[in-house]
Amino acid sequence: MIQIAPSVLGADFARLGEEITSAEQAGVRLFHLDIMDGHFVPNISFGPGVVKTIDKLTGCTLDVHLMLSEPERYFEAFVAAGADIITFHLEVHPDPVPYAEQLHQLGVKAGISINPDMPVERVLPYLGHFDYLLVMSVFPGFGGQAFIPSALGKIATARAYIDDNKLPTLIEVDGGVDGSNAAELAHHGADILVMGTAFFRQADRKLFVETVMQRVQQRHE
Ligand code: DX5
Ligand code: ZN
Repeated sequence: MIQIAPSVLGADFARLGEEITSAEQAGVRLFHLDIMDGHFVPNISFGPGVVKTIDKLTGCTLDVHLMLSEPERYFEAFVAAGADIITFHLEVHPDPVPYAEQLHQLGVKAGISINPDMPVERVLPYLGHFDYLLVMSVFPGFGGQAFIPSALGKIATARAYIDDNKLPTLIEVDGGVDGSNAAELAHHGADILVMGTAFFRQADRKLFVETVMQRVQQRHE
């Protein structure tokens, strides 16, 4: 079952409650929250306080993507704020397994992310320890960037590895995902499509989710 995870970074923060509600009414069950430190990425977004606010607004799963140079310093704060899934980057922790264990001990799911210039082969040996693999299809830092097609091959490689090894790891793709590439991404093996700009710019979000899901299912069968 493919899922759309709206990235709240693409929402209108002046109307955050309404944005969350309209996504839920469109059938969304998972929100992607982008945390940026101005160091690992050249932008700053929001922290645990805003995650806590979002947690009060929704019962949906909160998928927290840490674009931080020292993610482990903030694991506990984001767990306390209501995170259900916490993802950090292989670029900052090339030996990521102890951090996956920390996250599991804190009672959340663990995700590992790779940037567009990181070969997918580097992360495969660790996937047995992670619940999610987040494949970046833009260089992180800003919403609204163009999709980098090399993500497709990485997703296909990861899908084959996960299936061959019978792992439960889910594959997420993040950056420049929209209605035009969703079906192809699902076909290559993505389970979760993160969409910021493409989701929140829709006037009719319910119709958008239905349309994307139809296309995705056609390509998936
Ligand atoms: C990239 C973030 C993404 C991004 C997605 O810096 O990790 O989640 O906000 O936004 P769109 O869908 O607009 O590319
Ligand atoms: Zn993200």
